[in-house]
Amino acid sequence: MNPRFQEHFYTHKTDQKFHRIQETQMGSLQEQRLKKVVLVPFPFQGHITPMLQLGSLLHSKGFSVVISHTQFNAPDIADHPDFVLLPLPDDVGGLDMSFDNMLNVISAMNTNCEAPFRDHMVQMLQKEEVGCVIHDSIMKFADEVANDLRIPSIVLGTSNASYSDSLCAMLELLDKKLLPLPESQLQESVPNAHPLRYKDLALSASSEIPDIVIDFTRSYIDKKAASAFIWNTVDMLEHQSLQKLQHHYNVPFFTVGPLHKMAPPSRTSLIKEETACLAWLDNQAPRSVIYVSLGSLATIEEEELIDMAWGLANSDQPFLWVIRPSLVNGSEWIKCLPEDFVEKTRERGCIVQWAPQKEVLSHPGIGGFLTHCGWNSTLESICEGVPMICRPCFADQLVDSRYLTHVWRVGLELEKNSGRLGIENAVRTILTSKEGEEMKVRASGMKQEMERCVLKGGSSYNSLCELVEYISTLPRKI
Ligand code: UDX
Repeated sequence: MNPRFQEHFYTHKTDQKFHRIQETQMGSLQEQRLKKVVLVPFPFQGHITPMLQLGSLLHSKGFSVVISHTQFNAPDIADHPDFVLLPLPDDVGGLDMSFDNMLNVISAMNTNCEAPFRDHMVQMLQKEEVGCVIHDSIMKFADEVANDLRIPSIVLGTSNASYSDSLCAMLELLDKKLLPLPESQLQESVPNAHPLRYKDLALSASSEIPDIVIDFTRSYIDKKAASAFIWNTVDMLEHQSLQKLQHHYNVPFFTVGPLHKMAPPSRTSLIKEETACLAWLDNQAPRSVIYVSLGSLATIEEEELIDMAWGLANSDQPFLWVIRPSLVNGSEWIKCLPEDFVEKTRERGCIVQWAPQKEVLSHPGIGGFLTHCGWNSTLESICEGVPMICRPCFADQLVDSRYLTHVWRVGLELEKNSGRLGIENAVRTILTSKEGEEMKVRASGMKQEMERCVLKGGSSYNSLCELVEYISTLPRKI
């Protein structure tokens, strides 16, 4: 973590007005924590990470933090000694947990977790006050229980606000029966959704969308009962979308991102990180390496993996490549890589199953990031001033990619089927061309702006102060 961030967020901890100390009868000093907050994450890496970071942040500001979590991907108490962990029986043991089955997973979790969560909350309320329930947008059951029990319910937006805004635009188009469109119109701009084209929308604009997907999207967007929103974003990144959304929901918004820079450091990775790649990076020239990772959920076909391999090999640049065991549909880890590729790149390639990504991105050896544009990866890369090659796979990633390439201009768009030559050219452009150098300059500027937002007086810092005040003074609902 940047020491300048640490200085402000850690010294603040000791002088904050909310972090009270009280004399006990015994004469010893005992910390009296602020209200209890109950956090309900959606248990996949890209969602659980920001929720745990928010928990650490709120704990550092004096709140007692309970994490009410599914048994699937349960956090380890050894990593989070400051939290109370409350497991919810989720009964999803037999389910396919891949992205392709995600709507069924979400539905099962929402159905199975509601009753145990209600029991936990009723028992908790008999003993003490609960300030609020903060839940992932996807964990709707937490919102319902909170509202039934008259506890304020706050949504944590783990994706960017522009994604939610784009879903509102998409639903409006569907309601007006303006979709689907012919393929030839996908490059056109979506009305009232600048800078998005139809092809950047999360749901296909050129084919019939199944009812189950539309219903899920409506319920994802419908947050009428929420008391407030917390966003893992920064106001300057998406001011307009935030304004539009706040107008839509008409409740307080708190933009306290990037949470990985705002919160005290904590272990959030669900997978063991291969730290040896950092030593490998130490031996590379400054800004010479392309880091390649498609996050925790996306899958690709074997053909694309092979294209990536040859694109990297033919670019003649060093690379650090994350190939998760489940990255390639239907293949075992690494077995599908051609032997001559392995031979050719032995001296300048490092392949791991899971990397310590934040450390990798802040390493001086990294010059670019070929990414799927998940929101956490996007924020982590922006915060380290690393330009990106954008290869979005689904959902918010398409929106993030468009912002990276056409608004913030720190990313290069890589079409899905651009083949090995497209990848080779993109890697060379980012690492060795004037265009790449200009992107790097803009990325460094963004990094500095992000640092300012986090420091005292910055937008995220101020928003966090307001959030602490807000939760501290929230009355129980009538
Ligand atoms: C999912 C969705 O796919 C994404 O679109 C959404 O924005 C959040 O939820 P995921 O695909 O995992 O997330 O991507 P991302 O949001 O980038 O989160 C991945 C996290 O895993 C990052 O915090 C990254 O640092 C970490 N990571 C990734 C590692 O620690 N090691 C790796 O090797 C790869």
